[in-house]
Amino acid sequence: MKARTFTLPFLLMIFISSHFSLSTSKRILNDPYGFSSSASLSSLNAKMLISSFNLTPKYDVNVIPKGSPDAPRLVESQIDFPTTFGVQNVSGGPSVQQFGHYAGYYSLPHSKSAKMFYFFFESRNSSTDPVVIWLSGGPGCSSSVAMFYENGPFKISDDFSLSWNDFGWDKVSNLIYVDQPVGTGFSYTSDKSDLRHDEAGVSNDLYDFLQTFFKEHPKFAKNDFYITGESYAGHYIPALASRVHSGNKKKEGIPINLKGFAIGNGLTNPEIQYAAYGDYALQMKMITESDYEGIKQDYVECQSLIKKCNLDGGLACKSAFEVCDIILNMILAVKPGTNYYDVRKKCVGQLCYDFSKMETFLNKENVRKALGVGDIEFVSCSSTVYDAMTKDWMINLEVKIPDLVNDGMNLLIYAGEYDFICNWLGNSRWVDQMNWSGQKDFKSAKNVRFLVDGKEAGLLKNYGPLTFLKVHDAGHMVPMDQPKASLQMLMYWMQGKLSSTPRVGP
Ligand SMILES: *[C@@H]1O[C@H](CO)[C@@H](O)[C@H](O)[C@H]1NC(C)=O
Ligand SMILES: *[C@@H]1O[C@H](CO)[C@@H](O)[C@H](O)[C@H]1NC(C)=O
Ligand SMILES: *[C@@H]1O[C@H](CO)[C@@H](O)[C@H](O)[C@H]1NC(C)=O
Repeated sequence: MKARTFTLPFLLMIFISSHFSLSTSKRILNDPYGFSSSASLSSLNAKMLISSFNLTPKYDVNVIPKGSPDAPRLVESQIDFPTTFGVQNVSGGPSVQQFGHYAGYYSLPHSKSAKMFYFFFESRNSSTDPVVIWLSGGPGCSSSVAMFYENGPFKISDDFSLSWNDFGWDKVSNLIYVDQPVGTGFSYTSDKSDLRHDEAGVSNDLYDFLQTFFKEHPKFAKNDFYITGESYAGHYIPALASRVHSGNKKKEGIPINLKGFAIGNGLTNPEIQYAAYGDYALQMKMITESDYEGIKQDYVECQSLIKKCNLDGGLACKSAFEVCDIILNMILAVKPGTNYYDVRKKCVGQLCYDFSKMETFLNKENVRKALGVGDIEFVSCSSTVYDAMTKDWMINLEVKIPDLVNDGMNLLIYAGEYDFICNWLGNSRWVDQMNWSGQKDFKSAKNVRFLVDGKEAGLLKNYGPLTFLKVHDAGHMVPMDQPKASLQMLMYWMQGKLSSTPRVGP
């Protein structure tokens, strides 16, 4: 009976009790710090996780004192990345000056005082390309993590200059990154009641954000529009897609030309995905058969609480969060040090990934000045925002999807095959089981090869508007691990060419 310490990466900051002994009773979380509420413990864990990514946000959340001055730039203005940040290597590409690159804040009308921060990069190809919004997970991590380490236009060099990312998603889309929910990244409020606790709050804010965005950028309102993201965004994305769909139907504001939504290694249907942890761990030899049997038993109560949470909400959701967490603890206790975003890798000491360059970069005086963030600090990942979403965690967002795909909206679920936390197995199961008009045909569709440069880069399955793609040689963050494949995936998908027909040749 040994107490073990876990450190887990963020993006999806799974709540892991920091000290856990295998012999503790199945249902009672150890509380070594004397916190009686799981919220405090979860916030403590979130902090540990943040540090395991080598991030050191100055504050837990961006809630500024009432009466503080707003960041000076409440309306965006164009930022000049090349001049300000010394973009290296414009090699062969078109001149940077011709692209609109923006950063700014929009006020959220249905909040007390929230301001949402975003970056907007016009497509390197054509302004008529689709508009794509990217949402990072956490909950509570800035989308800048993805922007600089996954699919944004630039990478940060060691000397903190920027260089072009050859596989940035802005090569085929007009690309937006927002810091959300409010309190995350550079987004802020002076009223704590603006912090969100559920997907209704999150999706309303994002809908309001999009309304302002298209009002300010009318020429992009006609373009196709896609919602994308990763990890906990497996919750945000169906909620936002559904919110946009209903806003369009009710003619609430500017119509948004939503064509589809894509979720990468997401958490969408917790009941199915928590059941898959044991199966995936066994398949990947992370645990033994006898561990597996124990985990299956632990799942029984986890499942019943998830069901209760989805029926009654409230406290059951918190209990489900705590109880289901035991399953993760059991599995993670077997091989401490495994990187659970990529089971091929180890975490070295506390460190699983190092995203500190982003933080250093965004804290630089000239960068802050160019972004117009005034005195607002950059909160790379907010433990308070994470905490505020505890009761949202076990909610099943899959239920919002059938209406959308039945109406012809395209859905792409993709997953890097070595991610444990939001593994492909759990994702493929809920996608198969989803009750929609094409369910039978989708379920019986064949897996075919997804080819990149003539090589198999993944396996995909498609029927009508629904596509599932298992990405080879990738963990939780597919665009970071397989940048070229991820760009091709996005492009083909938006062009309607990511289908079950195997492509051969060039
Ligand atoms: C620009 O990119 C090319 C090829 O990617 C590389 O060979 C060259 O060293 C880069 N130049 C700079 C200044 O980074
Ligand atoms: C680039 O833009 C043109 C329209 O100007 C479009 O036809 C083409 O498909 C786009 N290419 C990519 C790779 O998105
Ligand atoms: C699937 O959805 C349809 C339409 O909403 C409903 O009538 C049917 O009962 C559902 N089937 C299952 C197995 O849930």
